[in-house]
Amino acid sequence: MDQFYSAEHVVAVGSPADPILCHRPHAAQRAARWFAAQFRGTVFYAVKANPDPIVLEALASGGVDRFDVASLAEIRAVRRQFPSSTLAFMNPVKAPEAIAEAYFRHGVRIFALDRQEELDKIVTATKGAGDLTLIVRIGVDNSTADLKLGMKFGARGPAVADLIRTTRWHAEKLGVSFHIGSQNRAPEAFVQAMTSVAGQVQAAGVLLDILDVGGGFPAAYPGRDHAALSDYIEAIHRAFDRFPAFGRTALWAEPGRALVAEAASLIVRVEGRRDFDLYINDGIYGALYDAGHLNWRFPCRAVGHPADAMTAPFRFYGPTCDDADYMEGPFFLPAGMAQGDTIEIGQLGAYGRTMTSGFNGYGSYKDVICTDDPFGSLYEAADLRALAETKK
Ligand SMILES: Cc1ncc(COP(=O)(O)O)c(C=O)c1O
Repeated sequence: MDQFYSAEHVVAVGSPADPILCHRPHAAQRAARWFAAQFRGTVFYAVKANPDPIVLEALASGGVDRFDVASLAEIRAVRRQFPSSTLAFMNPVKAPEAIAEAYFRHGVRIFALDRQEELDKIVTATKGAGDLTLIVRIGVDNSTADLKLGMKFGARGPAVADLIRTTRWHAEKLGVSFHIGSQNRAPEAFVQAMTSVAGQVQAAGVLLDILDVGGGFPAAYPGRDHAALSDYIEAIHRAFDRFPAFGRTALWAEPGRALVAEAASLIVRVEGRRDFDLYINDGIYGALYDAGHLNWRFPCRAVGHPADAMTAPFRFYGPTCDDADYMEGPFFLPAGMAQGDTIEIGQLGAYGRTMTSGFNGYGSYKDVICTDDPFGSLYEAADLRALAETKK
């Protein structure tokens, strides 16, 4: 893959018709080093956020080399790249064929579930294996998350205690997990979830081997206020100190977004302008899914325009012939933006290119590496200084 200093350098060499993904593996590595040093437990990377092998390699080199996988395709790909890493199949509803292949062919021993039928399925598909780590996912409050993940999965109500107890019988190691929702603005959401889960585990009367606090850690998107990453870690540690762990329970987390959002930006080209609508060459069927569906305003800058140019609020239309291919923004860019100009959109390393559908024949990217700092960062100087101290 070609390597450049920055988006300016990329564009100076040429601006192709396809959008350009600027990978910054050093940013993923830095995030992994931070999590590995600060989190008092085991970190699994949620591969769905960005399954690119460059990213996985960078995370592993930064100390995050265990993976939360959600499908057989993810398992096969990660296994090819990391023949002996620990994989956790954390999708709570899986095909029996996927469970069997994961267990017998790829050495997966960790499986999530949130209902009795899934437990039965796992036991049958693994032929009653005696070496399973089974993680019961429990539903928790998602109200402070920008992207809620609380409806589809997670056991709730009086059935939880029974499910935990029954799962104990089939598990060599028993865990519980939850997800506070993605891009969660409140560190206290972890505390509340851990307190609620502690009550359910005590009601079940079992000892836990693993408490998995899931993902939900934020990335640096403009206009979405949240606490510093270190506040989330501190809240988890504080709640874990009060958790009924009895010296036995290990702490796990499965961050996706926070580990990789900074690891890629996107260079798009303006193919047309109408008033304050810019028609760009990627959109909601591509790496800008969240800019359209969630109306998230990713950080933007016009490449090659003076940084102090007078700006105006723009909306984007993507390249397909569909009205829905629209991103409200507003995205503040130089008022004189015109056809042929290029824009760098930051923080697209998480849930970016991986969402691409290929609709209307779009969805191809040119891939490059950029060696400059990511466009916005949560891994600020203070945190990095703390990391340097820990490493001494
Ligand atoms: C089971 C599971 N773990 C972890 C994650 C990662 O969450 P985030 O990207 O918010 O950290 C997800 C996201 O959907 C998930 O479904």
